[in-house]
Amino acid sequence: MSSPYSSYIFKRNGINIKNRVVLAAMTNKQSYKDGRISQNEIDWLTYRAKGGFGIITTAAAHVSKDGQGWEGEFGLFNDNLIDDLSILTKSIQKYNSLIIAQLFHGGMRSPQNLTGVRPLSASRIPCDVSTSGFTRSASVEDINKIIDDFTSAAIRCVESGFDGIELHGAHGYLLSQFLSKKINNRKDRWGGDIYGRSKIVRDIISSIKNNVPDSFILGIRISPEIDELGIYLNESIELVKILNNLGVDFIHISCWDIYSRSIEYRNNSKTLTEWFTHSIDNLPAIISTGNIWSSIDAKNVMKQGADFIGVARVAIPYPDWANNLGIDNYNPKKAPFTVKKLKEAGLSNTFINYMRKWNGFVCDGYEKN
Ligand SMILES: Cc1cc2nc3c(=O)[nH]c(=O)nc-3n(C[C@H](O)[C@H](O)[C@H](O)COP(=O)(O)O)c2cc1C
Repeated sequence: MSSPYSSYIFKRNGINIKNRVVLAAMTNKQSYKDGRISQNEIDWLTYRAKGGFGIITTAAAHVSKDGQGWEGEFGLFNDNLIDDLSILTKSIQKYNSLIIAQLFHGGMRSPQNLTGVRPLSASRIPCDVSTSGFTRSASVEDINKIIDDFTSAAIRCVESGFDGIELHGAHGYLLSQFLSKKINNRKDRWGGDIYGRSKIVRDIISSIKNNVPDSFILGIRISPEIDELGIYLNESIELVKILNNLGVDFIHISCWDIYSRSIEYRNNSKTLTEWFTHSIDNLPAIISTGNIWSSIDAKNVMKQGADFIGVARVAIPYPDWANNLGIDNYNPKKAPFTVKKLKEAGLSNTFINYMRKWNGFVCDGYEKN
């Protein structure tokens, strides 16, 4: 079995990564209203590159102006954003880490009071961030524009010097709304069974591949199951087979807890990651993320068959977590964290205040912005 510090070579294009430790996407709300990435956001990511992460993933970044999910999110929807993004990519690559942008559209989770337009989704469904109380069902024209927007965003990433992209197909945002059996009620080619519901994702991948160099890494993040949103494990396994045939470089499984088992097959002892790694041959690189805190957790996710260890929250107080993984039984202290500790870890007041939303993460008073 590989260790967290083994290098990895992507099968399709031979790109080499120095280790198996990935900073997963984390929204941090530090960027500008007009979509430009801020120096605070660049600094927060750079600090983690310096701390040894082989891959740094950006926060979710909107590919269309009306796909923005929240304030402080940087965007990829305009060429005038490229100059600042180039500062980010150079800053990360200085530490021999790869920088991957997470391409995002919020769909029914893009609030009308932020974007000024009625949220769209795969179908017309109730929506609490739409002033009418409903989403607009995407027309074929809308879908073609979304595919174009993802493609243009990927091209901007190439121009900004990114090593690759991760499509955000997880957590109930636009792409996962199309993949959902409950939200996607379409009767056309973009609906139906999981093959039909994955058409938008398939079209985006093909279009991006036709427009970026082969050396550009293309991956996707998915949720293995979210019962309430109509994402089911048996269909996610089918989806991974479909994605595998499309030649993606990696699939990132967002487990939230790498030890949890399927709620659909309660009596089966396989972990969520193992459902994929034990049943599908010749998978692309698998990143798995969720509740990894210690070096033992890191080894365990690799034992489950993941090629890469994805972490989010532990990297907030511990920027050098990746470098410390070599310490025997490394298991840093868990939350709550003081404002002082988070400031030392390079977080701005805006990010620290946002982290208060994550139950029990921050333990003292509010900071002035
Ligand atoms: C502050 C914060 C922001 C997040 N933002 C994103 C995001 O922009 N995109 C995404 O796919 N996941 C996002 N996530 C989910 C993480 O990538 C990760 O899957 C989750 O936190 C579980 O991993 P962990 O237990 O290592 O934190 C976010 C998580 C946190 C804590």
